Amino acid sequence: MPGSDVELMETRATPAPETPLAVAPGEVVIQLDHVGVKYRVPTEHIRSFKEFAIRRLRGQVGYREFWALHDVSLTVRRGEGLVIVGHNGAGKSTLLKVIARVLRPTEGRVWVRGDVAPLLQLGAGFHPEMTGRENVWLNATLLGHSRREIEAHFREIVDFAELWDFIDAPLRTYSSGMVARLGFAVATSWHPDVLLVDELLVVGDQSFQQKCRARIDAFRAAGTTVVLVSHNMSEARALCQQALWLEHGVVRAAGPVDEITAAYEQAASAV
Ligand SMILES: Nc1ncnc2c1ncn2[C@@H]1O[C@H](COP(=O)(O)OP(=O)(O)OP(=O)(O)O)[C@@H](O)[C@H]1O
Ligand SMILES: [Mg+2]
Repeated sequence: MPGSDVELMETRATPAPETPLAVAPGEVVIQLDHVGVKYRVPTEHIRSFKEFAIRRLRGQVGYREFWALHDVSLTVRRGEGLVIVGHNGAGKSTLLKVIARVLRPTEGRVWVRGDVAPLLQLGAGFHPEMTGRENVWLNATLLGHSRREIEAHFREIVDFAELWDFIDAPLRTYSSGMVARLGFAVATSWHPDVLLVDELLVVGDQSFQQKCRARIDAFRAAGTTVVLVSHNMSEARALCQQALWLEHGVVRAAGPVDEITAAYEQAASAV
C-alpha cells in the first residue's frame, strides 16, 4: 500500500468499503411483520440430564410459556441507524437475534437483505482453548469468509484489536474487554449491509470505544444499516436517528431518536 504511516493508520481506523453493498440506497433492508417469540421455561429445577430424561419420559417436566416478544413490526431502510432501548428483560437481545436469524420467531415474518455482521454476545462463536489467531480464523469462517479473504484481512483485524502481543495465547487468558475487541474487529473487518450490535461498546476502554464508534460512523456513511441495543442514551443519539422502545416484549413507542430516548428517560426517572 503506498503512502506514509499516517495514511496507514487512517486506513485502519476508518475502513474503506472495498465491495459495493448489495442493497441500493433508500431500499428496505430489514422488515419485521407482527413478530412474536415464545420461550418455554422449565418450572422446576432439574439437577441432571438423567433426571430430565426420566421425567420427560414420564411426562413430568412442567413448562411455563411466555412471550419474550409480541407483535413487533418494524422497517429499517439502507443507511439508517436504529437503536433499541428498554429495561432489562424487555426483549432487546431477543429482537436482535431474530434479525440476525439466530432465532426463528414463533410467529410473524422476518425479512433481511444483504450481508449481516452480528455482534450479539461477547465472544459468541469463540473457543476459550483456542488461540486468538485460531479464533479469528474460526469466527471469520463462521461469518462466511473464504481462506483468501481471511488471509487478506488478518493483519488489519489484529491491528484494530491491538492484540498482537496476545494473538498466540489461548482465549481463556484474555480479559472480557480483549475478547470484545477481537470480536468487534473480526465482525467489522468486512463491509456489511447490516451491522447488529448488542451493548458491545460498553466493554472496551474509552479509546477502544471511540475507535468502534468511528468505525460504525464510517460504515453508516458508506451505507451500512446499523441496529444497536444500548442503555447509553447519549451513545444512542450519537449513532442513530431512529429508536424503538420495547417494554415487556411489545413496542411501547417508535420514532425519532431524540423523542423516544427523552420519553424513555423520563419514564425511567419517574419510577
Ligand atoms: N433462551 C431463553 N429461554 C427462556 N427465556 C429466555 C431465553 N432468553 C431470554 N429469555 C427471557 O426473555 C426475556 C427477554 O430477554 P432478552 O435477553 O431479550 O432481554 P434484554 O432486553 O436484552 O435484557 P438486557 O437489557 O438485560 O440485556 C427475559 O425475560 C429473559 O429471561
Ligand atoms: Mg440483552
